[in-house]
Amino acid sequence: MCGIVGYVGSGEPDSRPERVIMGGLARLEYRGYDSAGIALVGNDPDRVAIAKRAGKLERLSTAIAEHPLPPSTAAIGHTRWATHGAPTDANAHPHLAAGGRLALIHNGIIENHHRLRDELMAQGVDFLSDTDTEVAAHLLATYVDQGLGLADAMRAVATRLEGAFTLLAVDVREPRTVVGARRNSPLVVGLGDGENFLGSDVVAFIEHTRTALELGQDEVVEITPTSVVVTDASGAVVEREPYHVDWDAAAAEKGGFATFMDKEIHDQPTAVADTLRGRVDENGRLRLDEGLIDEYVLKSIDKIIVVACGTASYAGLVARYAIEHWTRIPVEVDLAHEFRYRDPVVNIKTLVVAISQSGETMDTIMAVRHAQQQGATVIGIVNTQGSTIAREADAVLYTRAGPEIAVASTKAFLAQITASYLLGIFLAELRGNKFPDEIAALLSELDAMPAKIQRVLDTAEPIRVVARSMADEHTVLFLGRHVGFPVALEGALKLKELAYIHAEGFAAGELKHGPIALVEQDKPVFVIVPSPHGPESLHAKVLSNVQEVRARGARTLVIAVEGDEEAARHADEIFYVPDAPVLMTPLLSVIPLQIFAHELASAKGFDVDQPRNLAKSVTVE
Ligand code: F6R
Repeated sequence: MCGIVGYVGSGEPDSRPERVIMGGLARLEYRGYDSAGIALVGNDPDRVAIAKRAGKLERLSTAIAEHPLPPSTAAIGHTRWATHGAPTDANAHPHLAAGGRLALIHNGIIENHHRLRDELMAQGVDFLSDTDTEVAAHLLATYVDQGLGLADAMRAVATRLEGAFTLLAVDVREPRTVVGARRNSPLVVGLGDGENFLGSDVVAFIEHTRTALELGQDEVVEITPTSVVVTDASGAVVEREPYHVDWDAAAAEKGGFATFMDKEIHDQPTAVADTLRGRVDENGRLRLDEGLIDEYVLKSIDKIIVVACGTASYAGLVARYAIEHWTRIPVEVDLAHEFRYRDPVVNIKTLVVAISQSGETMDTIMAVRHAQQQGATVIGIVNTQGSTIAREADAVLYTRAGPEIAVASTKAFLAQITASYLLGIFLAELRGNKFPDEIAALLSELDAMPAKIQRVLDTAEPIRVVARSMADEHTVLFLGRHVGFPVALEGALKLKELAYIHAEGFAAGELKHGPIALVEQDKPVFVIVPSPHGPESLHAKVLSNVQEVRARGARTLVIAVEGDEEAARHADEIFYVPDAPVLMTPLLSVIPLQIFAHELASAKGFDVDQPRNLAKSVTVE
């Protein structure tokens, strides 16, 4: 939600700052695309040069091509997901202050902006936008005008703000400096050679450097071409260890696919294989990536609560079936934003599992903090190294899906299920719920999945053909039972967010309790049919549900395992996936639904990578 990038170059004015910022914004555009803007310290000693436009980044690129920016030493850029103020040119960041001598960009929400705006207006400040951000820009100018250096002024601003923010600023009076501050919103530093970078995440600069530095809560950073100084709220210097970024620049490219989403769907065998790789140590124990949880604590927990949002919460719903089955520990799955406000029963015997691709979803961060305050232990299942949830959780199990750029989540979902299963298997082993040979069998079932996922991808053409023929549909229903239920929810979510079609996912057993009233002649209904080799009666029950909707005229689109001829008899369209143990099937059955949504949205001419109104990383509550 809002992408931020900052850069200081070699010290001599040239065009590199502009190129670095525009390249970074292109990579960060998935975080918001309501407007984009850039400010740079150019050759005018009295004003920063600025260009900003409502709409996608290409509108900004066109504007810059028509009115080129000057060579510069330092620059900041922003891609916006609007919170306060409509997506207009005026509300686009950067915002100027001090008569145009400084420019500031922001990600987050400044909750006390009304009060600060009144205070500044009383001092004679004129506002040009409706944003909360402009308040921070003018406040910064006030402190700089009082004689503070940019970094000290930024620290003073940070103490005045309530809410969530990452702020970056440049000032013509310090032409080789960019300063940043953060609270509850992400900011990472990229360390270069004679140049340094700032970004909302490492994707902003991995093309240039893979050495990064995390910034803690309420810290201020000042970068120049040759130095990076991090200070805390009191101004004391904080030493931070750089880390190597595992992702490479190629992972954030489309790699020959027409869309990032298509590429990421095809990355899924690798995402699952990488998430499994090297995870079990010589004693058969799970290797956590960061942090350590006392085994005594893990043996004593009496409840697991998964907190997550959207697709990540559906991964949690899938994991619940497996973890409860393997460990006999009760598992609750809560939407992170509901968890925090429902006064949940959480204590030192609760293990909270926070699942998040970005590691920056504010609702999930807040749930983690709430759980920790109640004494719970928190494990983060996170995709982004160095993100807030990764830092704040007691331990982290990284999903190694690589950068997910398309706004709609695909490969992270599969990797999240995989990592959650590893956690479940580990707990089952640790607590003695399973014998070693059972654990080995589960791990080998997981190991077999990347090849099966590849097979689903290789045989996906029929679902594409059907999707392209359905561009005029207005409602699509999705039904599933057991682990097929969260898959149905995910299928419906993908279709809503990409194709803007009304879609609902239901537990197939719930059908007769209401939703069946929605079924009409020729209405498409997807049904995820479990393997006939799974738990007794599950297959038969779902096939009954298929027949119930078909009897009422529905057009049944059935996902079933290869060889399930009975399912084919009740299907208007059948899409096969390889057979697998029932708990493993979500890793397969969701893929045709991802492809269906992608293909149908493309057929309607929509931008599948950047659907309307959405942003990849929801960093506000
Ligand atoms: C849907 C989607 C979202 C995210 C949700 C959580 O395609 O991408 O529902 O899953 O916003 O995001 P993370 O996983 O970053 O916490």
